[in-house]
Formats: sequence, C-alpha cells, structure tokens
Amino acid sequence: MAQLPPPPPAIKDPEIKYTQIFINNEWVNSASGKTFPTINPTNGKKICDVQEGDKADIDKAVDAAKKAFEFGSAWQKTDASKRGVLLNKLADLIERDRIYIASLETLDNGKPFKDSFYIDMTATINTLRYYAGWTDKIQGKTIPIDGTFFCYTRHEPVGVCGQIIPWNFPITMMAWKIAPALACGNTVVIKPAEQTPLTALYMAQLIKEAGFPAGVVNVVPGYGPTAGGAISSHPDINKVAFTGSTEVGQLIMQAAAKSNLKRVTLELGGKSPFVVWKDANLDVVVEWAHQAIFFNMGQVCTAGSRTYVHEDIYDEFVKKAVARAKAKTIGDPYDVKSEYGPQVSEEQFNKVLEMIESGKKDGAKLECGGARQGTEGYFVQPTVFSDVTEKMRIGKEEIFGPVQQIIKFKDMEDVIQRANDTKYGLAAAIFTQDLDTAMTFTSRVKAGSVWVNCYNANSPAAPFGGFKMSGVGRELGEYGLQQYTEVKNVVVKTQTKL
Ligand code: NAI
Ligand code: MG
Repeated sequence: MAQLPPPPPAIKDPEIKYTQIFINNEWVNSASGKTFPTINPTNGKKICDVQEGDKADIDKAVDAAKKAFEFGSAWQKTDASKRGVLLNKLADLIERDRIYIASLETLDNGKPFKDSFYIDMTATINTLRYYAGWTDKIQGKTIPIDGTFFCYTRHEPVGVCGQIIPWNFPITMMAWKIAPALACGNTVVIKPAEQTPLTALYMAQLIKEAGFPAGVVNVVPGYGPTAGGAISSHPDINKVAFTGSTEVGQLIMQAAAKSNLKRVTLELGGKSPFVVWKDANLDVVVEWAHQAIFFNMGQVCTAGSRTYVHEDIYDEFVKKAVARAKAKTIGDPYDVKSEYGPQVSEEQFNKVLEMIESGKKDGAKLECGGARQGTEGYFVQPTVFSDVTEKMRIGKEEIFGPVQQIIKFKDMEDVIQRANDTKYGLAAAIFTQDLDTAMTFTSRVKAGSVWVNCYNANSPAAPFGGFKMSGVGRELGEYGLQQYTEVKNVVVKTQTKL
C-alpha cells in the first residue's frame, strides 16, 4: 500500500466516442435496432444509449471471428512474435490515452479516478505487456516413445473464444480475457457488462488502431441472458471465459455442455477469510483488513469479506476498524480526496442495503454506517458489523459491497474449520509474525490465492482463480495460457522400411 502522488487532472466530462457494436473492425448498429442506456452511478443519470447486441449480432460477430481464424487468414499467417508486437502496441495506445480512459471508467463505473488511473490502467497495461512477451514462447514438447516414431506436441489456439465480463473492473477484465487469448492466436467475441460498456468500446477502437486484423476481436455490448446467452450456447464458439456471479457461472457451464461442450473457464464469487492472528501488528492489520473489504466499494470478487480476529485482540481490533471506516472520505469520484465512490448500479445499491438489513435482523452488531450516503447516486456508507457468525446471511453470502463482517475466533483449528466452511474458495489471508502459524494456514485453507501479511497482491504473472464454487480453471500467468490452447499430439513414423 505505497503512497502514490496525486494522479494528473481527470477529464470530468469525457466525450463519449463509441456506442455501437464492433464487428470486423467496423462500427455497426444492432440488428434489432434496439439500444440500452448506461447510467452514471454518481448521480443516477443516463450517460448515453448504447447499441444493444443480441443473438443476431453475436452470430455476425462469430462469423467474423471464424473467418479471421481460418487457415490462410491474415491473423493465422501473422508471425507469433508479431502478435506480441501488436499487444505491446495496444498497451502503448492505452498509455497514450490513459487519462481519458481512466476518466471514462470513472464516469461509467463510479470508482475513484485515482484508482482508475493507478490501479485499473496499470493492471490493464501490465497484463497486455505480460502476454505480449509470451506469444513466441508457447512451445510444445518432443516426447520419446518407440524409437521408430517421432512424437511431438503442438499447442494450437482453441479457435473462437467467447468472453463475458463484469462491471467491477471493466477494462482490466477485458485485458485479462483478450490478452492470453490473442497471445495464443485465438480470435475473440467479447461482451462487456451492460452497466459498463464504454471503456470496452473505446478499447475496440484502439485494437483496430494497433493494427489487429479485422475480425480478431469483436465487441458486442448487450444484456446477459440475451447476448451473453448467445455466446455461451453458440455452436461455433470453441471456448467461453466468464467472470461474474456463481449463479450465472452455472448457467454458462450448462449452456456450454448442452450446445457443443465448448471449453469453460469461470471466475466467480467469494466469501474470503481474512485472518488476524493474536501477534499481528494491530494498526497495520486494521488498515489491510479495511482495504481488503472496502477497496472498489467492496465490489471485488476476492474481497476479504469475513474478517476473523483472534479473541485476545478482538475488542481492540473492532474499535480501530470502526474508527478507520468512519474516517473514510466519500464523494465525487473525480475528487482526488475521495477514497470512495458509489456502488455501480441501483440494483447493487439495493442489494447491499438489503444485506445490511439482514445483518441487523440476524443479530449482528452494527458498529457504523448501515445506510445510504447522501441523496443522489448509489453511495452506501462504509459499514462495519461485529459479533457476526457464519450462520447469518452476512457471514455466509457474498454482499459485494462496503460491509465488513468481524468474526471472533479461538485458535487455529477453529479458524481453519470456519474459513473452509463455505461453498467458495477464491482467496484467503493471514496476518501473523509466526512462520509456523502462517504455513499451517496456507497449507490447509482451501483457496486459489492465499496471502500472508498482505492482501490482493495480484500480478499478471501469477495465476488467479478459485477452488470449489469460486471458479473453474485459472487466469493469468503461464497457467492462463493452458486455457487458450489445445494440445495436438503428432506422431511421425521415421523408419518406413521394414
Ligand atoms: P452477473 O453474473 O449477472 O453478470 C456478469 C456478466 O454476465 C455480465 O456481463 C452479464 O451481462 C452477464 N450475464 C448475466 N446473465 C447471463 C446469462 N444468463 N448468460 C450469459 N451471461 C450472462 O452479475 P451481476 O448481476 O452484475 O451481479 C450480481 C452479483 O454477482 C454481484 O452482487 C456479485 O456478488 C457477483 N459478481 C461477481 C463478480 C466477480 O468479479 N466475480 C463481478 C460481478 C458480479
Ligand atoms: Mg445478473
């Protein structure tokens, strides 16, 4: 959590340049003629209307992606290293337009501009550059079998990849999805979330400007059950990658199974344990625990949403955690003094408030917050509950909002058992000075990312994904490449004369 200098001034009223569907490197209207509004969550007002893609538009996009993938196409003939040059060029263009894109992300999503500028843009650029480095290093093996045969593997692209992304990190999720797909030589049809389509559309134009051949990336904004459903059930899409709710992840896997057994990777929900051992430095750990749950207004799949605190330090921790939450600066996300903006949509705002009510009803102690902030937009006060148990909905279900649940535990057995007593398994953390305590926890907790004395320490080079119902497969790093290649085993008879 290094202190960063203030970002450069934001563009507070960024011009909206692209609102159509991007197919074959061209901007087109929806086949149905329908549009949908995208809303500014800071004030609840419409920003603009966007072309609403549906099945017919997905079909058209898939046709373009199929043609772009065909043998002899410009993309298929592109040298592997040149794919890296194109990805780096795309990263350069995002750097060039960084202030504008970060401003647009804040307008559409509501996240503080300084987070858009520093966190989202950095993650986006770094992911593109990381996979740019891989393009000409995706290698198979030669395998010794019977000496009269030559056996080798080719790691070939899967084909047309359908990608469905959420609204909490709109442009970063687009980079997480397209970068490994393109590094391996696939083509893409991607659907941004209906709440936040604008940066994905701007990125589409940069993809064209970077020089990717037509049809390699197609961006179709639209709703989940319609445009998203058309992707997951499409017979000519070879792989689908999804980030979002566990419920929709199940629908996607079903649609994939029923249509053509397309490959499926899923990044889903979580209820991640953040464990504070009795020897942790209290002031340091209070800040980490606070960031773990309140970052991005709690709209993070890995949010540290069950704060387990050892009974010896529980009362003191609660006091400090409440003081920290009360000190949070809320307001205009373009104001660099704001640590915190609105929830992304009215639906999410209502869901969070409803969960807060359930916490009160179930007998948790509301320490601070618990209500709407202000009268305009979808702001929720930073909320802290103590005396939470896993039987309560707030101790069990993903809230995806700025609500900290502080839970008391006794010892390692107790906390391991409770940390794992969930259908999720996305992330976990422990704060302790004791190596044995840390290693016991890291080896026994069931989660895809485990952090010791830190939180949300992600890198494009390291794998990300969930155990249990938090997901299927891994994104990022070398592991992420496996999801975007098929392994072809080739055997050549080398001694044909008997
Ligand atoms: P969602 O899972 O409905 O939406 C995510 C994406 O899936 C969007 O692009 C949406 O259009 C698409 N989608 C929705 N229904 C679909 C369907 N039937 N077929 C194909 N695509 C579909 O998530 P939503 O409704 O925005 O948020 C609900 C909850 O999901 C949140 O409160 C949070 O708990 C969780 N969530 C988790 C995210 C994560 O990062 N893992 C991101 C967003 C939401
Ligand atoms: Mg939904």
